[in-house]
Amino acid sequence: MGGMLLQQLKNEEKKIAVIGMGYVGLPIALAFAKHFHVVGFDIDKALIETLHQGKDPREEIQDEEFQNVKIQFTKNEDDLKDISVYIVAVPTPVTKLKSPDLRPLISASKTIGRNLEKGAIVVYESTVYPGCTQEECLPVLEEHSNLRYGDDFHIAYSPERINPGDKVHTLSNTIKIVSGDTSDTLDAVAGLYEVVIEAGVHRAASIKVAEAAKIIENAQRDLNIAFMNEISIIFDLMNINTLDVIEAAGTKWNFLKFYPGLVGGHCIGVDPYYLTYKSEQLGYKPEIILAGRKVNDNLSKHVVNKVLGHLEGNNVAFDQSKILVLGITFKENVSDIRNSKVVDVVQELQHYNIQVDVYDPYVDVNELEKSYHISTVPEIGGGYQAIIAAVKHEEFTTFSEEKLKTLMVENGMLLDIKSMYKNFKGLNYWAL
Ligand SMILES: NC(=O)c1ccc[n+]([C@@H]2O[C@H](COP(=O)([O-])OP(=O)(O)OC[C@H]3O[C@@H](n4cnc5c(N)ncnc54)[C@H](O)[C@@H]3O)[C@@H](O)[C@H]2O)c1
Repeated sequence: MGGMLLQQLKNEEKKIAVIGMGYVGLPIALAFAKHFHVVGFDIDKALIETLHQGKDPREEIQDEEFQNVKIQFTKNEDDLKDISVYIVAVPTPVTKLKSPDLRPLISASKTIGRNLEKGAIVVYESTVYPGCTQEECLPVLEEHSNLRYGDDFHIAYSPERINPGDKVHTLSNTIKIVSGDTSDTLDAVAGLYEVVIEAGVHRAASIKVAEAAKIIENAQRDLNIAFMNEISIIFDLMNINTLDVIEAAGTKWNFLKFYPGLVGGHCIGVDPYYLTYKSEQLGYKPEIILAGRKVNDNLSKHVVNKVLGHLEGNNVAFDQSKILVLGITFKENVSDIRNSKVVDVVQELQHYNIQVDVYDPYVDVNELEKSYHISTVPEIGGGYQAIIAAVKHEEFTTFSEEKLKTLMVENGMLLDIKSMYKNFKGLNYWAL
């Protein structure tokens, strides 16, 4: 099956369709399009138009990557013809109540089902809880295709490890986990991904194992950061710099170096809830995973309290004060603002009638306005009571102590969330 599938793709009798042209789907689609015919499908009309111009609106992918590839970007379902492999990379967010929002996944599965042909494999890449692909997506494929699972089509799961903004760990040089519903499916999917993943693939024991592996990669990171955030709150009460402690403890062979920070984005702060949801459904209420989430979700309050304390300590009325926030995206060197915890910091400060100037050279200002009603300043002003250095964008790392000093009033406070300015001893400095 594996050999035949690759042969059909090589002969261009069949194509690969990637559903969802986002941070995950677009890179994988372009990687395959260097070798095979690919259909890149998305429901977002504006996005498809930009992709037609050979541009990635998220600026993760260079324009050259759009050249010499065999790819058709489309929002039209009728283009999903002669597809032997579907790759699903649609969002898997959580609802307001923090349960999995499977609507995009179900909707994508319906689209595939309506167009599914005999012999095809559907590979899910979206992050889900163990069991989701087989329990939730498969029945939708069957229902909407009128094909018989097992006889007519197969399913597979291959989680994504792409790290936007990271130029070191790329799609191609990072081992990719693959899994399939049968050993033939696994062979076929492994063989396919091996064409584009130079680092090779890891064959997981089952689809559930692959789903579980992805979810714990992120849940583990979330917990490790939560521990650092908690000790950072404790050490703040003790007037100890957390980074100094981590550096000292890090000299032991088995100490794990993680750093405190605002945990936002659509992966680390979201995926643990997929695991806890399923666990609770099965009758076990997780304790440490949810405790970690709580600590991380509340960290913005800790930062805001620090600012309020500083203003009160200096007898500055909140509505007379001005704060600069450097960076609002959920992490460094990306434009992504989904679930950014810096947004929480800004909104909480605004709640106290504090003027907050947000400066971020990466963010899409229209999207920020639309999503959170927050505007940015085109240039950094001055006379700030405090500066919150929230995101470690490359531009910010070169700021000098003198520059930050001149931006602030006398005794202004620098809150260095990412410990970018650790050596700025001449400032009223505070780090997480
Ligand atoms: N971005 C990351 O760093 C990353 C890393 C690993 C895994 N993941 C996971 O990969 C999945 C996709 O994430 P992303 O960051 O690429 O999301 P994204 O929001 O960047 O892109 C998803 C795309 O899917 C499209 N879409 C939504 N519903 C659709 C439908 N029914 N049919 C077709 N297209 C549809 C959207 O328009 C959007 O363009 C998620 O499960 C996420 O958790 C993301």
